Order: sequence, then structure tokens, then C-alpha cells
Amino acid sequence: MVSQRETSSPSPFTPGYSKPPLVFGGHEDELEELTAVFRTLDFGENDSLLISGLRGSGKTSMLARLQDAARSSGWIVLSDDASKGLMDRVTETSIPTEINRLAEADRVRLKSVGIWKFSAEFDFVDRNREIRPLLRNDLVALSEALSGRAGILITIDEVSSGKVRLRELSRFALEVAHAKSEGANIMIAFAGIKVDLDELVKNEHTTFIRRSRDLTFRRLNPKETAHVFEETARIAGRSIDREALDLLVRVAQGYPYLIQLAGDYAWRNTPESESISVDDAQVAHDKAIKSVQRRVISRVYEDLSERDKDFVNAMAHDVTGRSKMSDIATRMGTYGQYVQIYKKRLLDSGYVQPDGRGYVAFSLPYLGDYIRSMAADESGNEFQTSDWSEFPPPPHD
Ligand SMILES: Nc1ncnc2c1ncn2[C@@H]1O[C@H](COP(=O)(O)OP(=O)(O)O)[C@@H](O)[C@H]1O
Ligand SMILES: [Mg+2]
Repeated sequence: MVSQRETSSPSPFTPGYSKPPLVFGGHEDELEELTAVFRTLDFGENDSLLISGLRGSGKTSMLARLQDAARSSGWIVLSDDASKGLMDRVTETSIPTEINRLAEADRVRLKSVGIWKFSAEFDFVDRNREIRPLLRNDLVALSEALSGRAGILITIDEVSSGKVRLRELSRFALEVAHAKSEGANIMIAFAGIKVDLDELVKNEHTTFIRRSRDLTFRRLNPKETAHVFEETARIAGRSIDREALDLLVRVAQGYPYLIQLAGDYAWRNTPESESISVDDAQVAHDKAIKSVQRRVISRVYEDLSERDKDFVNAMAHDVTGRSKMSDIATRMGTYGQYVQIYKKRLLDSGYVQPDGRGYVAFSLPYLGDYIRSMAADESGNEFQTSDWSEFPPPPHD
């Protein structure tokens, strides 16, 4: 007899891009260290961060965590995407908004700087047009207004390596660098796919980005994954049966987006019962994998260059989940040294991982299945599932 709850509450899981989770799994040490910077202004090597990872690995959610932590320490937060018009949006919209959030005493102090016009109540009215808008001056003034109590966190999401975007980002970073050299307390965090962040570092004229701290987002470990499932359900008033939890962890493979999808489907299967059962987890299994392929894996695959696609396609021949480098070279019709270059890039960006000497394996779960399913669609063959030997699908009725 399954016990029922009086009412069913909405799912607390948050599948979707840029939807920060209720329970943020993993990355505890980094968060603790960065939160300490917000409190102490002792930056150490944390004045610039590069957060890299594939889509759905939790980069935007991490930025949201940092923003919350910074705000609770009284910091000013400027957050934007690395798209065209970044500089104007920050100087014309984000900064005025932040100024109006400051305490009146701080705004009074800002008025004397003369960059901005204020109303009689010390609300921001406009920028003084005779002063050329320079982000560096704005940042220095804002930092001084906080008079050593707090700093400014700038987060730039969706860094991508289009030429225009990089040029604009470089200009932006240069302004930040100038402000820092004039003593402004600024932490800047960039988030994007690894190869794009590498381009940013290469293109940059300022040296501080090169010294950035790298945070690489891959998968959570099994313990962290289990914690996210259990704790999310618990906060919303339900428990998860032991066996159901094990299955959900195996399905999700530590991939943040997939954790939320699997949890969400499991929750919705019987929202009125007190605990999530293995039946719920089984229903979630099938649905979540289909959904993650459509929403995440297909897009992550499309992020690859043609040559990198050739590499992962060659890997997908091996339904066991691991591939021999020399087989990949043969299948790609190329030489070992080229294959090593692709391999390195794919290792760096988090698609594959070494798996014993001379072997690689997919580190993005279900990418191999996705590639095989596309190939099967084209050839009309059945979807091959044989590399699931360690994760047997639950029986269907
Ligand atoms: N640390 C985490 N623990 C649990 N779920 C997470 C975590 N980070 C992100 N998520 C979930 O994963 C999904 C993708 O997160 P997002 O931050 O948009 O990733 P990215 O920006 O890397 O594409 C969202 O559904 C989010 O709720
Ligand atoms: Mg994102």
C-alpha cells in the first residue's frame, strides 16, 4: 500500500537551461573559497575565473550562485551575456540599475564624482553627456562608493568565439583591467565552452585573463548526484526509495541537466504519493534519456567542428563504450598524430576521457547512443543499445 499525501506539490526539479537548481550539487570547495572572497575582499588568485563546460553542465547556475553570494555580502553585481552591445548595456542599463540599489549615503558619494546625474532624492537620472562613457571610470567610482566594504562582481555568460564577440569582449576586459589597476575591487567570471574561452584568452591584450582561475565543469560524482535527488525531494516533502534512488543516479550519470530531467519525470509520475518508487524511477529512465538527447546531447554534438564530429562518430562504432585510438585513426582515414590533436581538444572540452593506455571513452553520457541512433535513423536499423551492459534498461511491460 503506497501512502498518499493530502495534496500533491509541484515538482521541485528544474530541468531547463539557465534554471538554477533548488539543490546545487558539487563544487563545494570552490563556492566556499569564492564566498570567502566576497566577505574578506582577499582575492588571492580569484580575481578572474573561467568557467568551462558543455551545455547543461551547470555553468549558468554556478554564476547565479556566485551572484547570490556576492549580493549577500553587499557586492554590486553586473551580469550579462557576451553578445553584441555588451559594453553599452552595462554602462547604460546595468550600472544605473545597480546605482539605484545602493544605500543613499553611497549615492550621495557617487554624485560628487560627477559621472552621473541624480535627482533631488539621489536617484540615478542620467549619465552626464559631456563625460565620455568609459566603463573603467564607472567601475572605479562604484568601487570607491563601496569604500572598501565590498566589491563588484561581473559575470559574463555565453562566451563564444565569434570574431565580433571576442573583439567586444576584449575591449570590455581591457576596461576592467584598467579599473583594477586603479584599485577597484572587481571579480570577473566568464562562462562558456572550453574552446571558446581558450580563444578569449588568446585574443586578449590584457594579461589578467590569462592568469584566470579555471573551473572545469564535468559531471558530479555519484554521491553528489544522490544528494541532489534526495535533498531536492526532501525539501519539497517527499522521500525517494533506496532502489529508486540507485536507479536515478545510474540514469543521470552525474550530468546536471539529466539529474533535473530524471528527477522531474520521476516526481511527476505519482506526485501525490509520499515517496518516489522504483516504478517512478523506471518511467523517468526512458523519458529522461529521450529528452536529454533532444534537448542537450544533440546541441552539444552540433557544437563540434566537422573534424571533431568525425572523431566521435568513429568512436561510436564501438558499442562497448571505449575505443582504441588506432581504430579511430583507421576509421577516420588519417594519421596518428592528427588523431592526437582531435583527441586532446575533445579531452579538454569534456567530451571524451582517457580509458586506459591507447583508449578513449565518452565522458558525456549517452553521446555514443545518440550518434548511433542518428546513424540508425539514416540506415533504418534498430537503435543499438549494447553498450548499456552495465546499466541494463528496466524491463518494460
Ligand atoms: N550543480 C548542480 N546540481 C544540480 N543541478 C544542476 C547543477 N547545475 C545545474 N543544474 C541543472 O542543470 C541544468 C542546466 O544548468 P545550466 O546552469 O543552464 O547549465 P549550462 O549553463 O552549463 O548550460 C538546469 O536544469 C539546472 O537546474
Ligand atoms: Mg548556460
